Amino acid sequence: MASKSKFQAIRGTRDLLPPDTALWNRVEQTAHEVFTTYGYGEIRPPVFEESDVFARSIGAETDVVNKEMYFLFDARADLFGLREVLRNYIVVLPDDSSGRAGTVRFFLELLRKFQEGVEAELSTRMIEFDESARRSYQLFKDGIAAVALALSGNPPDSAEVLRLFRVMKLAASQVHLGETLGLRPEATASVCRAYIEHNMQQLPQPVKLYYTGPMFRRERPQKGRYRQFYQIGAEILGGPDAPAIDAELIEMLMTFFDKCGLQGTELSINSIGHAADNCRRGYVALLRAELEKVKDKLGADSQRRIETNPLRVLDSKLEHEQAIIEKLPRIADHLCDECRAHYAAVKHELELRGVIYRENWRLVRGLDYYMRTTFEITAQGLGSQNAVCGGGRYDGLVELLGGPPTKGIGFAIGEDRLILSLQESGKGAAPQGRDVYIAWMGERAYATAIRAAKNLRNAGFRVELPPTELKFGKALERASKLNSRFALILGDNEVADGQWTLKTLADGSQQKLTEQALLDYLKSL
Ligand code: HAM
Repeated sequence: MASKSKFQAIRGTRDLLPPDTALWNRVEQTAHEVFTTYGYGEIRPPVFEESDVFARSIGAETDVVNKEMYFLFDARADLFGLREVLRNYIVVLPDDSSGRAGTVRFFLELLRKFQEGVEAELSTRMIEFDESARRSYQLFKDGIAAVALALSGNPPDSAEVLRLFRVMKLAASQVHLGETLGLRPEATASVCRAYIEHNMQQLPQPVKLYYTGPMFRRERPQKGRYRQFYQIGAEILGGPDAPAIDAELIEMLMTFFDKCGLQGTELSINSIGHAADNCRRGYVALLRAELEKVKDKLGADSQRRIETNPLRVLDSKLEHEQAIIEKLPRIADHLCDECRAHYAAVKHELELRGVIYRENWRLVRGLDYYMRTTFEITAQGLGSQNAVCGGGRYDGLVELLGGPPTKGIGFAIGEDRLILSLQESGKGAAPQGRDVYIAWMGERAYATAIRAAKNLRNAGFRVELPPTELKFGKALERASKLNSRFALILGDNEVADGQWTLKTLADGSQQKLTEQALLDYLKSL
């Protein structure tokens, strides 16, 4: 039960604690093992990137980028704020002259503060200017000096001050303070950026990479939906146009879920055609036209999406829209010959691998980069947020980010949901007990206890050595609270005759053993 303290984890974030973290580790270890057998290597991209990496790949109009992304500003917060004030408010001067003089002094103060901050950043090389930023900044600095001059006249030249302010407002807005960064909402975009940056197209193709780590989306928190959540993902970049690649990726995913013991998994697949080709464009146009006809029966979100992204209407969970959506044209009937052949081959390849799937023509996914194969896996015990994994093909994404034409496909598992589902089906981790609790009394026994603890731990046993002396009764009580299997009792007698007492806590039985015999006995269990 959480208790009230001054500080709490931010809404939508949480602490992962023992014993749950043991299950997280087990799941991640299983991913490392399974993915390695399929020839994947691990990549660890940074958690933030230039925000354009995400906007360009996922799509600037998607919810993930438009509503849910966390931005960071790679600049001193005060400078960034000052620049916004200068950019937006600097020429709003009141008319009465006394007020105006005060406002001018106030703005001049802000301008000087901004200059001071920028100078400090430049001197520590926290920001560096290119030629055009240098020119803007020079204009800005000259402007401050000129304002001071215009103000010193009698009477002050207010028309000139106003003119200078306008120049400086423009110049300040062009002073480059650093990149706008985005906290990653997913990692596919980062992996593609890294593929290009490290010239991975020179490696044997395709390149198979996987990752685990936190992602960030400003969503409304609920069961299975967090603002910091964790993904285990994999991407295949480069290589031929072969449906076997799609099928093997999905086979690996299902093998992984199987090894984790995930229950009630259901794999849905679909093909959404080729974005650059006529099949998708033609279908989207048709869908938009059909949606227009029923527009007034749709909810506000779907109405908006008719314009922005009609495919997303198919995702709607609104009860009253379901009957309407069922009657809409289906993409499978509008795929071009190549996309249709590709989809058929993917299904055939899945069957060759014994992977059971269900087709879902409404599976379009919420990120813009997908084409052809899309898939999702649901699992039991998750309520409404039951998608435990999503993925698909994204040929063209690497090119969109400035790389060579490259095929791509991948998936990301929501690790929080995977863990939740495992726990709901009784596969959670039990609190970790101890193998041996060392109940020691007396100075001499303490030295022996330290040595014994070290040797037992070296041999791989979980050992608890109390840091202060306890009465035997108290020590045994602690031992059973910590779920210890044995208590090793070390008092003066034991140390003197070299015969240590080992108590089995489950039945209370005791035996006397030498140090070596004790180690051998524990190892034999
Ligand atoms: P996605 O469908 O946005 O795809 O996310 C994948 C999975 O991450 C979801 O199925 C879900 O399990 C989990 N997830 C998403 N948002 C949250 C959240 N707020 N809280 C908890 N879990 C969440 C992608 O991210 C793509 N990058 C997948 C991909 C890789 N496609 C190709 N390669």
